[in-house]
Parts: sequence; C-alpha cells; structure tokens
Amino acid sequence: MTQKKAADPAATNEYVTLTDHSTGENYDFPLMPGTVGPKVIDVRSLYGRSGHFTFDPGYTSTGSCESKITYIDGEVGVLMHRGYKIEDLAEHSDFMEVCYLLLNGELPNAREKAEFEDTITHHTMVHEQINYFFRGFRRDAHPMAVMVATVGALSAFYHDSLDINDPRQRMITSHRLVAKMPTLAAMAYKYSVGQPFVYPRNDLNYAENFLHMMYSVPAEQYKVNPVLARAMDRIFILHADHEQNASTSTVRLAGSTGANPFASVAAGISSLWGPAHGGANEAVLKMLEEIGSVDNIRSFIKQVKDTNDDVRLMGFGHRVYKNYDPRAKVLQKNCHEVLDALGIKHEPLLEIAVELEKIALDDEYFIKRKLFPNVDFYSGIILKAMNIPTSMFTVLFAVARTVGWIAQWKEMIEDPSQKLGRPRQLYTGPTERPYIPLHKRR
Ligand code: ACO
Repeated sequence: MTQKKAADPAATNEYVTLTDHSTGENYDFPLMPGTVGPKVIDVRSLYGRSGHFTFDPGYTSTGSCESKITYIDGEVGVLMHRGYKIEDLAEHSDFMEVCYLLLNGELPNAREKAEFEDTITHHTMVHEQINYFFRGFRRDAHPMAVMVATVGALSAFYHDSLDINDPRQRMITSHRLVAKMPTLAAMAYKYSVGQPFVYPRNDLNYAENFLHMMYSVPAEQYKVNPVLARAMDRIFILHADHEQNASTSTVRLAGSTGANPFASVAAGISSLWGPAHGGANEAVLKMLEEIGSVDNIRSFIKQVKDTNDDVRLMGFGHRVYKNYDPRAKVLQKNCHEVLDALGIKHEPLLEIAVELEKIALDDEYFIKRKLFPNVDFYSGIILKAMNIPTSMFTVLFAVARTVGWIAQWKEMIEDPSQKLGRPRQLYTGPTERPYIPLHKRR
C-alpha cells in the first residue's frame, strides 16, 4: 500500500485562505491530509508572511506534530494504535506486544516477541545505588513524587545510553525505561510501607513481575494470581498511549530541547500527576468514597452542576472524547469480571459508580456538554479490588504510559522536521516605561 507523505503540503492541492481585512491581503495555507481524520491547516509560514501568530491556549485547535502512533476519533469514541483498535488489543494482545507495536510500528512475530520480552526482562533491575537514593525520601512521600525524582535520576546512572543521536542508544533507553518503571514503582510502594525492596524475577511476565515486587516479602512465598496479572496487563494496555495528551506533549516539549529521555519522561510524570489528567483515577476513588452511598448521588450531582461550586465529576469528560471513551467501556466490563474472579459479590463503590454514570448520562448538564466516562472512571475500582493503594493509582498509569511517552519521544527525535518546541504568546502586560528608583516609588 502506498501512502501519501502526510507532512508534505504538496500532497494536496487544497488550500485555506485567510483574509486580513485591515490590509486586504489574502494568504493561502495548504491543507495537509492524514491517513484518517480531519485535514490540518499548515500555518507554519503564517508569521513570516502576515506578521501575526495564532492564539490557542489549551491547544484546542492546534496540532503540534505529525505522528504515526495513535489515532483518536473523539466524536465517535475510537482509539487505535498503529491502526489496531484498542478493544482488539485489550482482548487479544498483551502489554509486551503492545509495547513492541508502539515502539516499532508493527506487531512482532513469535521470534521478535520472544526476543523483546527477553530484552525487557533483562533490564528490569535498577542500579543498586538507586536503593540508597530512596532513603532520602520521607516515608509518607507521595509515590508520584518519588517517581518524578527516581526516573529523572536514572539519567545519572545510565550514561552509556544518553546519546540521543545514536539510534541504538535510543532503543536501549526505551527498553530500560519500560523495564525499570515497574521496579521503581514497586520500590516506591515498598518504601512507603516500610518493607524491604523485592528484586524482579526473570521467570515472570511483566504484569506478574510487578505484582510480585509489590506484594512478595522475604518471609513467605507469594503466588501471583493469574486473574489479577491478566487484569493488570489489560490496564497497562489501555493506558499505553493516547497521542498528544498533556503528559506526552510535555515529554515531547522537554525532549525537543535535546534533554535526555529519562529527564524528559520525568517531566511527563509530573504532568501526568495533576487531577485533570492521570491524577483523576486517584480523585475518582476519593470522590466515590466521599459520596459514600447511592442515596447521596443526586445531591452530589446537584453540587457538580452548580456553577458557583468548582466540584467536578471526576472520571468524566475529556478534551478529545465527546463520546464514551472506548477504554472506559473495556474497563467497565473488566471491572465486573475482576470482582467476580476475586469473589467480591458486593462492592459499594462500584454500585455508586454504576448509578452515578447512569444518572449523569441521563442528565441534561452532561448531555449538553458531551461528558462521558473516561478511562479513569472504572480503573480505580479495579485497582482497589486488587488491593493497590489509592496513592499508587497514578503511578500505575505512569508505568503503562512510559512506553507511549518514549515511543513518541523516539518518533520526534527521528523526524527530520523536528524543531525546538517553543509556543508564542499574546502579550497584554505594560508597554515600555521608565525605571523608577526605589526612593522615588510610593
Ligand atoms: N464534571 C462537571 N463538569 C465538567 C466536567 C466534569 N468532570 N468536565 C467538564 N465539565 C464542564 C465544564 O465545567 C465546562 O462547562 P461550561 O461550558 O458550562 O463552562 C464544560 O464541561 C467544558 O469543560 P472544559 O473544562 O472547558 O473542557 P476541557 O476539555 O478543558 O476539560 C477535562 C477536559 C479537564 C478532562 C475535564 O473534563 C475534567 O476536568 N474532567 C474531570 C477530571 C478527569 O476525569 N480527568 C481525566 C481525563 S482523562 C485522562 O487524562 C487520562
């Protein structure tokens, strides 16, 4: 199959004309087609030709890059990685395969998959000195704070893979990041509960290994529950990438300066932490606990709808999805499966969530604003059932998203049209004025 090169404006003869009515000048801007989705207007020459910038805080109408990794149609509720639907990947694939797909562009064959798994498995240990690094944190540090610091600190340990211009080193760093994130995440948890760090085991798969490092203790054998391992693997798949979201854009922006990938991913982790983004999964659980009972839902919804109150229905709404987030659909189904498999017959938080969703989806406020459950709405309930502490929820998101961050970073570095990311602004501050010496200021 031949594809038009999407970044080449010459690939289409369509143009959009901008008229500056103050001068009567017309400017034509080429339309660039993607392989699917709306065409974009190439405004790169706008300032040079017209002397004006575009103004788009929050980037609601701005494409920042060309990418072949992930496609979202938010109106319909479609998410695809490299052309494969997320529902198919969640059902039939596993996280290692999805990692390979995101990093390399194609699904692996059996040999490639075995080699990739072997490589990741053999990178899971962290430098022993990182253990000492942990001791500087307070016991009650939020694990996301620990992750920001320790992932950034990896750049102080792996000097042999920091040359961003060397494709081999880029791949080694990608493997190291994917492999070491669960180890660091489990260490952050162990440190917070005062238990010894548990080393990874090479006979376990990615999700099993993570659960082993989280829950095993030297005093007794821990047997990984396959249902939990599969559920964890699926959660990792569903969070692996989501095109140019806030944290990925942060990674790309940091990486566009030539900063090393460990530092760039640490920036992404910081961005993910906020409750408007990855921190929402933790916030959803707190919200459900605060609501406390199905009987309180209506008064909570009233509070959310009150424009004088800044309470939001966490796990609802999305910048891109104006329909049901396909990941939330998979997780909603998964949630029931996991609870059944664990023999949990009655989970009050799930009952509140199901009823909350029903009421919200039927309410004019949410319908008008096209607010639907997002990926965070059900993930917390599954993680809670799996005994994962709430403060670790966003950490798990970071573990899963690392492959997306690093795949996007690699794609950016390998793109010949890559430039330093540097937005412009509309300045509305004071115009030039004379400096007033201190003794003359009132
Ligand atoms: N609860 C109540 N009202 C909401 C919600 C919500 N969760 N989300 C949006 N709205 C309302 C806003 O108040 C606004 O109403 P208005 O037009 O009357 O002012 C309207 O819907 C549009 O909202 P914006 O904030 O302008 O939309 P934006 O695209 O910037 O926000 C966001 C997207 C941040 C995700 C928002 O929906 C939100 O805060 N949701 C809750 C947090 C959450 O679940 N985040 C996770 C997102 S998924 C992820 O990152 C993994």
